[in-house]
Amino acid sequence: MAMIAYKCPQYKVTVVDINTERIDQWNSEDLPVYEPGLDGIVREARGRNLFFSADIQRGIKEAEIIFVSVNTPVKEFGAGAGMAADLQYWEKTARQIRDVSDSYKIIVEKSTFPVKTALAMERILTSDSNGVGFDILSNPEFLAEGTAIKDLEYPDRVLIGSRYTQSGLKARDELMEIYANWVPNERIITSNIWSSELSKLVANAFLAQRISSINSFTALCEKSGADITEVARVVGMDSRLGPKFLNASVGFGGSCFKKDILNLVYLCRHYGLEEIADYWESVIGINDYQMGRFVLTMLSAMFNTLAGKRICLFGFAFKANTGDTRESPALNVSKRLIAEKVELVITDPKALNNAMKDLDGIEGKVSYVEDPYEASAHCDAIAVVTEWGLYANLDFKRIYEAMVKPAFIFDGRNILDHKELFEIGFNVFPVGKPPLTHFK
Ligand code: UDX
Repeated sequence: MAMIAYKCPQYKVTVVDINTERIDQWNSEDLPVYEPGLDGIVREARGRNLFFSADIQRGIKEAEIIFVSVNTPVKEFGAGAGMAADLQYWEKTARQIRDVSDSYKIIVEKSTFPVKTALAMERILTSDSNGVGFDILSNPEFLAEGTAIKDLEYPDRVLIGSRYTQSGLKARDELMEIYANWVPNERIITSNIWSSELSKLVANAFLAQRISSINSFTALCEKSGADITEVARVVGMDSRLGPKFLNASVGFGGSCFKKDILNLVYLCRHYGLEEIADYWESVIGINDYQMGRFVLTMLSAMFNTLAGKRICLFGFAFKANTGDTRESPALNVSKRLIAEKVELVITDPKALNNAMKDLDGIEGKVSYVEDPYEASAHCDAIAVVTEWGLYANLDFKRIYEAMVKPAFIFDGRNILDHKELFEIGFNVFPVGKPPLTHFK
């Protein structure tokens, strides 16, 4: 919404939320999310044509177009628990829009919803609605965290799904007009509403599958002497495949991939498509396996016991350039290490507060230290879990000297210079490459 307001001063954009504390933060100098470039855009548009308010009723009444961007977490109760999307927030929102509206509105599904959600929304909006008309559009968001501003400013594509009725197409054209203020026409694509809803889930499933695919070959590389970076380079130079999203890692995280695939799996099972559900579920299976394997590698490398050892996690965010820790591999790895009775020291430039919240209540020895030199001192091992650029530029000689010997590094992101680390004295365990150790 900040980007729309920034690019289109002729529109008034009001963001409303039931969480007043969050709205206050959006109105303050200290925004509630860390996202490179966002501050500047909000500062430019806020108070001009971008407003943040907790007055939801007024927001609904005054708007001609409403973007529904409520969260759709994985359901934690009842049928479909742990898999299906929890739709209670959007349902409440749909009812509130219906009850408060006194003029025609275009309702845009911005959150990622299971396919066919628009139908349920239509049914709620048109039952008992005092004759007020609504058109529903699906306009999924493809931005990735950390690169959100660039992704919004230069999107690969903007997708708008609509009904093919006269008013549905007119509503679609109005939304296209907004994006046309900065997105080239050929990148604004349209489809029917169900394709649009499904495409978002499918796009995320493909991206996650690519990571699981490359990760599935890492164990074989470590055993055979092949190097996953070299293999990925060869695969990625096939112009049919392309080089992106082929970085082997400790596993993928983030608020979308796992949730969206679980949704897709649930949907497939609902329609009796067991084989398809199993196929996509295995993408998550490989990811879990990869995170577990990372810890098992640590265990076997460090003489089959981790109890009482100090291990420093480099990074807790689910990826670099964000403070977000949702579904972060770091959380999974931390829990497994704590179960091994490790003394954990966590460092991260942006995610320490979230890390503390995530591990709150878990029994074990955990400390949080912002400075990586201080964090790794007196540790037996370092495990790189987030690919923060700063970790590649540290003085590892200094780090090595302050560590317990033999000192280990497990590079879950392959961002360090492994040969150099080995020469300093570390025993080095990359992902998908044979380890470099000083043991005979
Ligand atoms: C993702 C999609 O990319 C985005 O289009 C969608 O709108 C939301 O979900 P996001 O969750 O922000 O975005 O992060 P993304 O950059 O896709 O990374 C997801 C995870 O995969 C991270 O943990 C990342 O570190 C990991 N990853 C990514 C790899 O392990 N290897 C790669 O090659 C790429």
